[in-house]
Formats: sequence, structure tokens, C-alpha cells
Amino acid sequence: MRTATIEDVHEILVVGAGAMGSQIAMVCALAGYRSTATDLAQDALDRADAELRRRVGRTVEKGRLSRADADSAFDRLRLTTDLDAAAARADFVIEAAVEKLDVKREVFARLDAATPEHTILATNSSTIVSSQLAGATARPDRVANMHFFNPALVMRCVEVVGGPDTSRATVETTVELTRRLGKDPVVLHKEIPGFVANRILNAVRDEALFLLEQGVSSVEDIDLACRTALGHPMGPFELMDLTGIDIGYLAKLARHADSGDPRDVPSPIVAALVERGELGRKSGKGFYRYDDQGRKRPRTDPADLGTDPS
Ligand code: 3HC
Repeated sequence: MRTATIEDVHEILVVGAGAMGSQIAMVCALAGYRSTATDLAQDALDRADAELRRRVGRTVEKGRLSRADADSAFDRLRLTTDLDAAAARADFVIEAAVEKLDVKREVFARLDAATPEHTILATNSSTIVSSQLAGATARPDRVANMHFFNPALVMRCVEVVGGPDTSRATVETTVELTRRLGKDPVVLHKEIPGFVANRILNAVRDEALFLLEQGVSSVEDIDLACRTALGHPMGPFELMDLTGIDIGYLAKLARHADSGDPRDVPSPIVAALVERGELGRKSGKGFYRYDDQGRKRPRTDPADLGTDPS
């Protein structure tokens, strides 16, 4: 069985064109790779295209990227609903679909059938380790996690994690690709859900939710403490709004299903927000509310979050 070396990688497929998938595909195109992002529906692709053009356009306006380089990156980027055709051309796949094991296993089985033999199948998940997906394919040695951070256009860290069946060649190609994308690879020597960064982030997040639930302090002040006392670029609530409250909620549910540990049950505040569809920036409301320009405002009524101390 031949595994793609870095020299074989010319065409990258990203499955899922949500905020993460679309930015990962753009990172690949900006680094000079031919890159395709796929999604189930055309309107998801149209939204991704508009958002990427707005984001990259701003980088050009700020003088950090030439118009010519931006245009040629967009020439290398395709957005399509035709997964099988894109898979047939791909040397490296990064799956960034919804965080559900059955969906991901189905995608991996389909990719295994449609991609060339040398192609590496990586998942961007940090909660579903690649050994849970490898068995859906006939190439478990060429399956790994390649975990980007949000916003993927900006954040430098990418965690690279192999499972027990992942070959050394697969890890080497994934690490080298990470470097060629201008990112910093962090390699894990064994699988553990959440990997390194999210496990540390979750500890901060759990404590912030505990303080909010206990009525100790407000969303705004807990965020302020993390920014001004700890030097975090964003507080935990701002960050949950950025990454999507539903993403953290699904990750917790998956962790709880795995561990049975009551500490892994999602916070009731988070569960209520997800239930109401208040998922953060993408839905205009979460721990904060956002105007049409994306400007953040406090929620007017703390009772909205079920945390009114009175
Ligand atoms: N998408 C793409 N680019 C974005 C962005 C977004 N959502 N938000 C900001 N940017 C870009 C801006 O365009 C700007 O680019 P430029 O340098 O070319 O001008 C750059 O980021 C800096 O933005 P701003 O000046 O507007 O604002 P900040 O200096 O506050 O930076 C930030 C924004 C980079 C998001 C910074 O606040 C930050 O680092 N926040 C923490 C992010 C974080 O912790 N991410 C990890 C989340 S956990 C995760 O991803 C795990 C996964 O499993 C879900």
C-alpha cells in the first residue's frame, strides 16, 4: 500500500464548507494547493464563498496580501456539492463535517471508495479520534486527525494525531503539510479525546460556566478577567460565541457518552441556549448579541441566560 508523501500532495479536498471547513480550504489555496470544499447544499457553498471573499478582501485592503495573490488563491479554490468527483482527484482529504460519529463514518467509507489508493484521509475533529473512523475504511494506516483551530485562517496551531493503526508515513506527510500551510504542528503521541489545547480550554470553560451558574460574576466580567488578568485574546464566553455554542455542546455530549463522568454533562445554560437556537455569532445571539455588522453587545436581560442573581 502506498501512502502519499508530501511531494504527491497537489490536490486537497475539504469535506464540509462551514466556518472551519471553508477557511481550511482557503488556507490550502493560499498556500498554493489546488483545493476543493464540498457541502451538501449549494446555499452553504454560496455563504462560504461570500464570507471568504469578505475576509480575504479585508486582508488585501490592509496590505497584508496582494490582490494578485488573493485572485490566484481563489482560482485554485473550488466549491462543489459533487463529493465523489472531488474525492477522485484528491491526494489529501480533511474532513470537517458535523461532529457526529455515524455521519463521519459514512463519509469516511465513501471517501475510501472514491479516493486514489495513496490518499490520506484526515479528520479535523478533536472529539472523535481517528481510530473510531479508520474501521470504516480499508486503509486504517492512512487515517489520522489533523485538528485546526477557529478561525482557521488565523490560528497557527494544528494538532496531528495518529491512532494505533496510523502509519508513520501518514503522520510525517500530515506534519509536513501542516508546515507547508504555514501552520505549527503539535504532534500527540497517543489518542485522547480533546487532544491538548481543547482539554486545557475546556477546564477554563467549565470553571467560567460554574462561576456564571453560581451567580458569582457576569458573562462580561468573567470574560474581562480572562482578557485583562490572564492575557487571553478572548474570554471563554466570547470564544464559545465565536466557535459555536452547539459545537462545544456536542463535544461534551460525546465525551459524556464515552466517559459516563457527570462532570462531562453539558452545563444547563449551554443546553438551554442550544435548545433555543442561540448558538453564538452565527445565529446573532449567544452569550452576547450581535448586530448586523457583527458588533458585540451584552444581552440586555441576564434572566435570558437563566443566571439572574436576584
Ligand atoms: N475568521 C477569519 N479571520 C478572522 C476572524 C474570523 N472569524 N476574526 C478575526 N479574524 C482575523 C482578522 O481579519 C484579522 O486579520 P488580519 O491580521 O489579516 O487583519 C486578525 O484575525 C485579527 O483580528 P482583529 O484585529 O479583528 O481581532 P483580534 O486581534 O481580537 O483577533 C482573534 C481576533 C484572532 C479571533 C483573537 O481574538 C483570538 O486569537 N481569539 C482566540 C481564538 C481561539 O482561542 N481559538 C481557538 C478556539 S478553540 C477551537 O477552535 C477548537 C475547535 O475544536 C472548535
